Amino acid sequence: MPFQRKDLLGIRDLEVHEIEHILELAFSLKEINSRTIKKVPTLRGKTVIHLFYEASTRTRTSFDIAAKRLSADTFSITASTSSLTKGETFLDTVKNLEAMKPDIFIIRHSASGTPHRIAQRTPVAVINAGDGMHEHPSQALLDMMTIRQFKGRLDGLNVLIVGDIAHSRVARSNIWGLTKMGSRVIACAPRTLLPPHLESLGVQVASRLEEAIPHADVIMVLRLQKERQEQKLLPSLREYAVQFGVNAQRLSHAKKDVLIMHPGPINRGVEISPDVADGPHAVILDQVTNGVAVRMALLYLLGQNQP
Ligand code: CP
Repeated sequence: MPFQRKDLLGIRDLEVHEIEHILELAFSLKEINSRTIKKVPTLRGKTVIHLFYEASTRTRTSFDIAAKRLSADTFSITASTSSLTKGETFLDTVKNLEAMKPDIFIIRHSASGTPHRIAQRTPVAVINAGDGMHEHPSQALLDMMTIRQFKGRLDGLNVLIVGDIAHSRVARSNIWGLTKMGSRVIACAPRTLLPPHLESLGVQVASRLEEAIPHADVIMVLRLQKERQEQKLLPSLREYAVQFGVNAQRLSHAKKDVLIMHPGPINRGVEISPDVADGPHAVILDQVTNGVAVRMALLYLLGQNQP
């Protein structure tokens, strides 16, 4: 069996054949989302609970749409509406929900490692929907799906990641995934926004965008993660935009078929200019479309593996 895991916690743990299997399944399930009746009975009778203890637009909505299109029943818990506000621990919340016999928990939490700790303490399948600065595996999978859709392959591509790499779980999951799949990853950011030991992960570092952009097949632009920056790491947003913003002038030196990606949410005029975000190279909304298909694939695989 190509995928026999109880949980999907990160890309770091996955084998190449497992990533391949998820992507192939996502490409085949994507067609359901263009039907007039966008629903199949695959997960009928299964129950999915979203535990989003951090803000989300894309991930929570697309997991919910994915589950509903597979006919699962879904329920949503947020920090502000849960009994966390009355002092209940996250583990107690999970154990109480577990007593209601769900099949899959989808967890987003600001503390790195939370989905891993929960997965060890519950028989329910756990999907990591983003944990602190650690991993965001479904985002990396939808990013890899989008690159493969437009480039036809992942191996041998130069993927330039620009922005706040130090605080980005999206960057971390993509670095693990893209290097496993044979892409070269190049990082470009102010030194204060680069994590240590990037080279040991197989990542090259470029200090100036101008030197990296002409070689890039894909430019993945990241938001400044202000909610995870504990101190002032930049002189100003304006200075960041001048030195590291991806704009039309810089893109004029890129390959003609370069892809511009961004996981969202975008801060227009900071890390990316509006004309680039909405321009002909941008596949940002294709990433969002593929997010539903990737999450259908993950729910299908984990739902099948549940007893
Ligand atoms: N890319 C992403 O995780 O977006 P959300 O925070 O809106 O889910």
